[in-house]
Amino acid sequence: MESIVLVYLNGEIVPHEEARVPVDDRGFLFADGVYEVVRVYDGRPFLMDAHLQRLRDGLAALRIDDPGAAGLAAVAERLLDENGLRDGDATVYIQVTRGAAPRAHAFPPAGTPPTVYVAAKRFARHPAEYYRDGVAAITVPDTRWSRCDIKSVSLLANVLANQAAKDAGAFEALFVRDGIVLEGSLSNLFAVYDGALFTYPASNYILAGITRRHVIGLASALGIPVVEAPVPLDRLFAAAELFLSGTTTEVLPVTRVDGRDIATGCPGPITLRVQRAFRESI
Ligand code: PDD
Repeated sequence: MESIVLVYLNGEIVPHEEARVPVDDRGFLFADGVYEVVRVYDGRPFLMDAHLQRLRDGLAALRIDDPGAAGLAAVAERLLDENGLRDGDATVYIQVTRGAAPRAHAFPPAGTPPTVYVAAKRFARHPAEYYRDGVAAITVPDTRWSRCDIKSVSLLANVLANQAAKDAGAFEALFVRDGIVLEGSLSNLFAVYDGALFTYPASNYILAGITRRHVIGLASALGIPVVEAPVPLDRLFAAAELFLSGTTTEVLPVTRVDGRDIATGCPGPITLRVQRAFRESI
């Protein structure tokens, strides 16, 4: 028997099949909202507080009233229980939009309630060989807006970039703006030069990943220097190692970019150390 998946919508727990938002929702009309994806390991949400803080920061940046983001951790716990997700891998998806109102660009009347949606579902981890052997990436021009620090549901450039990667048989597309490699369509990028990790500084040009910040902490604890500085595209191919970080990606070696091997074309020792430390931190 198919079990009923329960989700949270605007204060209520309802069957997924019955969850509905009005066609006037500004998430639908304008992509006017923010989201989070939180990883769940063995039923325990990972780094939830950091995700909820970023959600609050995004809401503040977009001037959307905080609908009680702090209470969403408890909502996530309830969904994990009610959907039988207390073992194995899962994700919690959270989305808040500016709510439903007749279409007009400027904000709706004060008091229009934001739409709040939370869902928990089983997550199929990427194949083990990706983590062991590494994956391929391509580079694409960064056609996004210049507030990539806001985790907006407006993801068209990311969708197109990720599809371009899939079409090329690659795992990820790396955004390049003004000759600088910034991050992936759904992950952050780290490069290794002379034993140090380089990653683009947290700024308006990348999403400051929760996993990125966690990895920086793990690397520092391992005594691996971390430099938050731009990596030009022409230096990318001279990296000793590359890896991606992200909620669904974890720590994933990149061994080919645009069809060219990075160093030997195998995951490097620093990547594997960070990957091990990441697993142990879960
Ligand atoms: N994406 N950069 C971009 C553009 C992202 O969309 C993501 C996450 C990251 C990594 O951030 P974090 O470590 O906080 O997951 C970096 C999520 C997983 C998604 O859109 O599904």
